[in-house]
Amino acid sequence: MPGAITGKTVVVVGGSRGIGAEFVRQFVAKGNRVIAGCRQPSQAKELAALEGVELAEVDITSEQSVEAFAASVQQLTPHADYVINNAGVYGRRVGFKDVTAQDMLFAFTTNAIGPLLVTKALHKAGVLGGQQPTVIATVTSKMGSVDDNTSGGSYAYRASKAAVNIVNKSLSIDLAPNNCIATLLHPGYVMTDMTGGAGLIDAQTSVAGMIGVLESGVELQGAWHAWDGKVIPW
Ligand SMILES: NC(=O)c1ccc[n+]([C@@H]2O[C@H](COP(=O)([O-])OP(=O)(O)OC[C@H]3O[C@@H](n4cnc5c(N)ncnc54)[C@H](OP(=O)(O)O)[C@@H]3O)[C@@H](O)[C@H]2O)c1
Repeated sequence: MPGAITGKTVVVVGGSRGIGAEFVRQFVAKGNRVIAGCRQPSQAKELAALEGVELAEVDITSEQSVEAFAASVQQLTPHADYVINNAGVYGRRVGFKDVTAQDMLFAFTTNAIGPLLVTKALHKAGVLGGQQPTVIATVTSKMGSVDDNTSGGSYAYRASKAAVNIVNKSLSIDLAPNNCIATLLHPGYVMTDMTGGAGLIDAQTSVAGMIGVLESGVELQGAWHAWDGKVIPW
């Protein structure tokens, strides 16, 4: 679906803060309707005040919550043109000697399993693909690239993002017949709560770049692009 994204319905999962909140702002500013999935919609007052934004509760670590979220989305719209699977966690910053099974499972539950459950539930609710295409963009990280891992560490985060990358690949094959395009985006090293404010770019630059990738007309199905359009090695 190349060209400016406007007049569309966009679901942003994990819209309360950071990169997700910026996706909500920029999609609304471009004239789209946005359904923002948040763990605590009552806390997202700034987003709630934006015209064109509807908030729906979701905790992507809970299948029950994800099912209820999909039902809410279905009530709001018969079709989502874009789904941005943005919610993610970094977890404890521990190295090889200290990482635990719990650290691994915490990152996996949110970063790898969450986007799959959300996509599955929205698909079951009938709001993806069909007559009109849906682009499902999952925000992964270059830290999940095997080729790019030259510094080691970050076991839980790296493994969970590598896992969601292959989840996306399977989605790109399985959902293609239903007119869905499943793609991966790397936002860059972005100044948010996740990085403690460190980073090379701000959320505005990152999100403008990622939306630019979605609008650019490059092949998105099963692909992985960074915010600046670079293809990331697996
Ligand atoms: N910042 C970077 O440099 C960077 C680099 C590469 C990739 N990424 C990825 O970009 C995405 C956004 O990161 P960020 O930097 O914006 O992080 P952030 O500021 O920590 O925000 C994380 C977002 O995810 C939501 N979230 C976390 N767990 C959730 C759950 N179980 N259910 C629903 N929502 C949940 C949070 O909601 P609450 O407000 O409810 O906690 C928040 O909206 C993540 O997937 C991250 O891995 C970030």
